[in-house]
Amino acid sequence: MPAQRLGILTGGGDAPGLNAVLRAVVRTAEQVYGAEVVGVLDGFAGLIERRFRPLSPADVRHLIGLGGTVLGTTNRANPFAYPTPGGGTADRSAEVVETLREVGLDTLIVIGGDGTLAIAGELAKRGVQVVAVPKTIDNDLAATDYTFGFWTAIEVATDALDRLRDTAESHHRVMLLEVMGRHAGWIALHAGITGAADVILIPEIPYAPEWVSGACERCSNRGRSSSIVVVAEGAVRRGGDPAVAEVDAVTGQERLGGAAERLKGELRALLPAAIEVRATVLGHLQRGGRPVPFDRLLATLFGERAAHLAMQGRSGRMVRLENGRIGDVELEQAVGASKTVDPGGEMVRAARALGIAFGDEA
Ligand code: F6P
Repeated sequence: MPAQRLGILTGGGDAPGLNAVLRAVVRTAEQVYGAEVVGVLDGFAGLIERRFRPLSPADVRHLIGLGGTVLGTTNRANPFAYPTPGGGTADRSAEVVETLREVGLDTLIVIGGDGTLAIAGELAKRGVQVVAVPKTIDNDLAATDYTFGFWTAIEVATDALDRLRDTAESHHRVMLLEVMGRHAGWIALHAGITGAADVILIPEIPYAPEWVSGACERCSNRGRSSSIVVVAEGAVRRGGDPAVAEVDAVTGQERLGGAAERLKGELRALLPAAIEVRATVLGHLQRGGRPVPFDRLLATLFGERAAHLAMQGRSGRMVRLENGRIGDVELEQAVGASKTVDPGGEMVRAARALGIAFGDEA
């Protein structure tokens, strides 16, 4: 049945372009269909706690270039395992279904990464009309060529590498930059190439510290007195585990962090004492700020397509970019299908041809 009133929420980590999706959905729903859009605050928490905000075209004015999400978000509000005050979890999904019915939201547009999309898929199985929009700066969803936010993160990481090179060259140091990417090294790989790194360490290619130090020493043999190493937060040494910063007290999920600091220690033990090593963690600087034009465009086209799908009652679909064209796919097919770097793939081969090391060979 065609929708009249849409609900929309943002879930998981923020990414540049979320607000551009909201803007595109609201404008398309209003201009093409005369329909109303209601924003749900703070992801699925807003559906449990009944916190909403109407979104009119005036409310979304100037949002195309704004980072973050005006609706708020959380990665701690899975309605199927909702945190209880006692420290446990409870299945509160039935309340979500009931709330959507009572508030009169015909279709829910869910914008999020893998975890949020999986929740959307489960709600669809319980009869909720759902349309999904993929989001992650990690660009690790197999069903879409790109997610918005990724190229903004690459821009930030590339700029950081350019800046670090100034200090690396001036002080003749080895500079390490830790970037995001738990399971997939796309940010490290792209930024490592665009920022002209000497070494790129990603989760998909476990490294040996002696080969990383060897690559840094080769830089000095080539007449350079500095080197730049990009380290994905999920980078692992051979037979090792990712560096875990802490375990989230509410969800029990591991938060990664410390890969560059750990590598610094490993390199210090291997490199001549005269060579100084410094580590920088880029962290959430990669997630905030104004989306670059590509991310604005992708987010806008995703939002426009999502609004049409929702208004036409095409539930259970996820918008995507496929071979450069906007399309959509069965949400069930998209959920859980991750995209990691192929160690033998084109980009890794190109990087190696340029002389970039991955710490996996002498
Ligand atoms: O979007 C995913 C991600 O960017 C990961 O690469 C990273 O591990 C995570 O977000 C960090 O999220 P949080 O904001 O919870 O620290």
